[in-house]
Amino acid sequence: MKITATILLIFFLGGMIPTAAIAVDNAAKINPALELIQVLGCKACHTIHGDGGSLAADLTQIGSRLTAAQIEALLTAAASTREKGFMPSYSTLPKEDLQRISNYLYNLR
Ligand code: HEC
Repeated sequence: MKITATILLIFFLGGMIPTAAIAVDNAAKINPALELIQVLGCKACHTIHGDGGSLAADLTQIGSRLTAAQIEALLTAAASTREKGFMPSYSTLPKEDLQRISNYLYNLR
């Protein structure tokens, strides 16, 4: 009886651990845009879905005002052309990453 319980426990734990690892891995794969937003620190100034700073506009509904192309253009604009001036320019990011971020933000609405 004791052995059966131990074996069942091993099967149970053995099944749990890889499942959790796969779930984390998929989350990163499914949403590389969120990872970029995290790494680039956008939320230091902007709030998205209730999480982030209040130095600049909440970006959750940005897609109802701007297209993905307009958001992308904003990200790469020179800091000197900005209204308040303190958002960095992300013009050195690869085009692919800029599109990922812009499409993600656009589709939040
Ligand atoms: C240091 C603070 C700061 C950081 C970091 C920052 N922003 Fe901004 N962002 C601003 C400010 C301030 C504005 C308003 C325009 C201006 O005056 O520069 C703005 C404007 C915007 C707008 C236009 C908002 C609107 O309502 O028209 C978008 C979109 C945007 N930021 C996206 C991003 C993304 C994506 C990142 C990360 C890659 C980011 N921002 C990082 C401060 C920041």
